[in-house]
Amino acid sequence: MTVPENAAIDGQDEIFKLAKGYYTTKALLALWRLGVLERGAAGEDLELPAIAGRLGVGDPAHLRPIFDYLIVRGYLERSGQDVYRLSERGTAASPYFGYLSTMVGAYEPVFSRIEDLLSGRLVYGQDVKRSHEEMVRGLTSLEDRMMGTVTEVVRGSGARKVMDLGCGSARMLAHICAGGVRGVGVDRDPSSCAVARETVRREGLQDRITIIEGDAADVTSLPREAVEGVDMITVMFLLHEILRQRGRDGTVRLLREIAELLGESGSLAMVEVSGTVDHAYRENQLFVPEYELLHEYTNQRLAAREEWEAMAGEAGMKVVDVLPVDMCQAFCLVATPIGGAPR
Ligand SMILES: C[S@@+](CC[C@H](N)C(=O)[O-])C[C@H]1O[C@@H](n2cnc3c(N)ncnc32)[C@H](O)[C@@H]1O
Repeated sequence: MTVPENAAIDGQDEIFKLAKGYYTTKALLALWRLGVLERGAAGEDLELPAIAGRLGVGDPAHLRPIFDYLIVRGYLERSGQDVYRLSERGTAASPYFGYLSTMVGAYEPVFSRIEDLLSGRLVYGQDVKRSHEEMVRGLTSLEDRMMGTVTEVVRGSGARKVMDLGCGSARMLAHICAGGVRGVGVDRDPSSCAVARETVRREGLQDRITIIEGDAADVTSLPREAVEGVDMITVMFLLHEILRQRGRDGTVRLLREIAELLGESGSLAMVEVSGTVDHAYRENQLFVPEYELLHEYTNQRLAAREEWEAMAGEAGMKVVDVLPVDMCQAFCLVATPIGGAPR
């Protein structure tokens, strides 16, 4: 059998395309981490001498190759000698730059050692961890896309006190509480709690929001005065971490405790990404296969939307709404306890 003449070329192009994606991602990620893309997205000219000065780099020419490379790849254009700006393509991508952190940068410490994880030489959580700071930074920059849906759910429910489990930077909670609702943010990570307290201070919401460092997987252990009067619980991008850490039974147990805490008149709004039901590789899916892969090696487990609905049901809750969220191809599931949660 003769091999078509272009077969080798196509195969080679395939690999070159992967390399192009890798280097373009790394170049964009570097400029994102250095705060350059944020300035570009705000419409600022990117002047190499000024950037070099800010970074403490003696020679601005040292920066030029990466900026020129991003011109070739279409994200930047030149607007003068050593002055660049985002191209139309770069500007269109700019609301989504946070994904560079959440999808790549935060997991770089893990995937740069993936061979060692696969061969068992390293163990996730002991030897390597994702970058928590980069995850929260990426999510924070993307969160505006989620603000509307979740805030409307909370305000529409007439809730008076909302508790956000795994609150991260607490930007979402601050947005929700800006309308007058009282809030409690819970996160087990001390640096997230510090950022969350800073958000609350900056927004002038100290009299309305309390941040607690604690385990959201055990809501019964949270201080009584914090949970008292809570009639809405929000959990955004946390339950899939609990699913891996505590298993399905542990997650249902937590949902049941949430139902008991809320009582019949309260409600839960959870935001999650639906895993694929069919695990066959689907090349045309742009987001979920990578998202699933990085979760598999970092102690997390995505579940399909139907499984979340089933777990809520087992925990004694009725799903009253499922809304699309314009972030991470996620959904917002709203549930209320039925007739008091089963004990
Ligand atoms: C993926 S981030 C989501 C942050 C925030 N909800 C958002 O949507 O931007 C998950 C957050 O949950 C926190 N977290 C993870 N496990 C937790 C636990 N068992 N109890 C409390 N917080 C937890 C992490 O520290 C992190 O801030």
